[in-house]
Amino acid sequence: MRQPHSLLSLLLTAGPIAQSSSGLSDSSLEKHVDIVTLGHSFNPVIAAYRTGYPHHRRTPFAVSPNRRTGYLAYLDASGTGVHVQPINPSTFAAMGDTVTVSAGKEAGGLVAHDDDAFAILTNEISPSSGSDIPIPVIYRFKNGRQVWKTFIGGPNLDSGGSSHASPDINGDLVFSEKYGHYAAYIVVTAYEGWASGHFGDAIRYLDTDGNIKEISGASSSWGCSHNTGIAFEAADAPPFASICAEDQGAIWLTTKGQGMATAGKKISNELTVNGGSNEPMGGMGGSYSALARFVGQDSYIFAWVSRGAVDLTPNDWMGTGYTKSQGRTENRNVAIALFSDKNTLVDEEATSEIGAADGDNQVTWVTEGSNDCSNAHAAAFNSSNALITWEEIQDPICDFEAMGCRGKFAGTFYQLVNSKGEKVGVPVKSTDSFVAGDMVTVSEGRVCWPYISMDWDLSGPASVSSVRKMSFACISTASGSTTPS
Ligand SMILES: *[C@@H]1O[C@H](CO)[C@@H](O)[C@H](O)[C@H]1NC(C)=O
Repeated sequence: MRQPHSLLSLLLTAGPIAQSSSGLSDSSLEKHVDIVTLGHSFNPVIAAYRTGYPHHRRTPFAVSPNRRTGYLAYLDASGTGVHVQPINPSTFAAMGDTVTVSAGKEAGGLVAHDDDAFAILTNEISPSSGSDIPIPVIYRFKNGRQVWKTFIGGPNLDSGGSSHASPDINGDLVFSEKYGHYAAYIVVTAYEGWASGHFGDAIRYLDTDGNIKEISGASSSWGCSHNTGIAFEAADAPPFASICAEDQGAIWLTTKGQGMATAGKKISNELTVNGGSNEPMGGMGGSYSALARFVGQDSYIFAWVSRGAVDLTPNDWMGTGYTKSQGRTENRNVAIALFSDKNTLVDEEATSEIGAADGDNQVTWVTEGSNDCSNAHAAAFNSSNALITWEEIQDPICDFEAMGCRGKFAGTFYQLVNSKGEKVGVPVKSTDSFVAGDMVTVSEGRVCWPYISMDWDLSGPASVSSVRKMSFACISTASGSTTPS
């Protein structure tokens, strides 16, 4: 129907756009299309759990603290073998030889060091584990040679006596420069012991020699039930900043308590059904670059997608402090939360009041439309500003409760937000760039990540042929961007 007052709405919408000059603009986005020729084939799509809908297959990317060396990791198209390609973090050109973890089955996280060393999180079949499910493992390489390898699953790790495997890692590896330790936060399933057949998560700390450190109040063998999304970022001391999405009805800041415990903070109430919670951190292929630490600060920002929460009912299984809810919207929108330090939510915790009509009043929404949003990520530009990015589907069809949707891809969006969580300007829209790997602050005001230049079709399950080219994209803010030469 034609609107009689279209001139008025035109005038009204012209206002904010004209005032948005302080935000990002099209020229903030820089693309290096097909800049890297890969030594091996890579399949850029992973089918999502339950729906089979296409997700980007994660390509971890990391840059050394001195910003001289970058590394890009990707899974071989055969499904076995994780390749790590050194990358010049200024030009994104390949530099040096590819290193391969030949048994690796997922490129699950990457850390770059100054001395031509890196560590990678993957999973592999380990005959000595007593299981034919892949076991999570961390490798460290220096000058192209393996220095050590440490399984962070398998037997004899959990004091409770269960043995863990990770069919999908769906987590992350981080390193604290100050504390000098790695930590990995991963999804696990128990194949022996009290939790056999169930899914949970584990947090494992390692020193730089590859020894697992059992740290009280930081290490964890079984945290969130059926973890459906992880966000993890280093801190200057353990415990590191951690977030989980569980299948009982919430997303938690788990830094304190390392699990879905009321010792932590309830970030949000979520619709959860059958081990699904709306793929808040990206679902399959996700769980990276969702939580970012502001540069040089103790504060963090977290981005996820949510259907919101209404009509809170008791969670009898979990008891006081836990609730079930219904989604507010059919589609998912982008939400953010801010933390003044690794334990402290800036806004209130999500309510646990039984009978509450609104369960999401505390949420800071970045989008509030009817397009379905997915693949949300956060990265810090500097001490006080961050980049939030996501993808949208227009007129989404959401066949599966608490899972992803399908429909026409409507673009990737890049939004500047400040440390109060306020949007600055309007988002930049791009239909030919995507976030498909870790977002790295390569210099103040400049965030870059890898992706595959391709037609991105979200209309249903897709099979895509393998590629041999990797692209990189960056968003730079006008001020404070020191483009490396
Ligand atoms: C951080 O980046 C924003 C956006 O470009 C800029 O306005 C601000 O001045 C920067 N802050 C610092 C401390 O560099």
